[in-house]
Amino acid sequence: MKMLAAPATVLALWAVSAQASTTDDIAKRLEPVGQVCVQGQECKGMEVAASVGGGAAKTPDEIIAKHCNACHGTGLLGAPKIGDAADWKKRADKEGGTAAGLAKVALAGLNAMPPKGTCSDCEVKDLEGAIQKMSGLK
Ligand code: HEC
Repeated sequence: MKMLAAPATVLALWAVSAQASTTDDIAKRLEPVGQVCVQGQECKGMEVAASVGGGAAKTPDEIIAKHCNACHGTGLLGAPKIGDAADWKKRADKEGGTAAGLAKVALAGLNAMPPKGTCSDCEVKDLEGAIQKMSGLK
C-alpha cells in the first residue's frame, strides 16, 4: 500500500519531535509547519489525508464505480458495456476465454481503452476482479 507524501511528512516530523521532552517543545518545533496533529487529539487534516491515502478503490465494485463505469457504463468510445455478456465473451475468447486474459489487455490498454482503465494503483488482479463483475466471466 502506497503512503501519501503528506502523512509520511507528518509522521517524520512526529518521529523527530518525539525526542522533545514536553508537548510544548513539540508544539514549538512543529509551529512553522502550521496546523499539525498531536497524538490523542482530534485532527481534521489527518482525517482527510487518511481518507485519501486509504481510500484507493480496491473492491471490484469500487474500482468499477471510480474508474471503469465512465466508459463501460454506457459503452462510450465502443467500450463493451457492463452486463453485455456476449460482447465481453467475444473479446475474452480472443484472450483464452477468461477474465484473467482480458485483465492483461486492460493492463496495457487497447486503442481508446487507457492502460489499467485509468486505475493507476490497480494491479492485474484488481483489474481481473472488476472485469469479472462487468462481464460475468470467471
Ligand atoms: C476512457 C474510457 C475507458 C475507461 C475509463 C475504461 N475502459 Fe475498458 N475499454 C474502453 C474501450 C473504448 C474499450 C474497447 C477497445 C477496443 O476494442 O478498441 C475497452 C475495452 C476493455 C476491455 C476489453 C479488452 C479486449 O481485449 O477486448 C477490458 C477487459 C476493459 N476495457 C477493462 C476495463 C477496466 C477493468 C476498466 C476500469 C479499471 C476500464 N476498462 C476502464 C474504454 C475504457
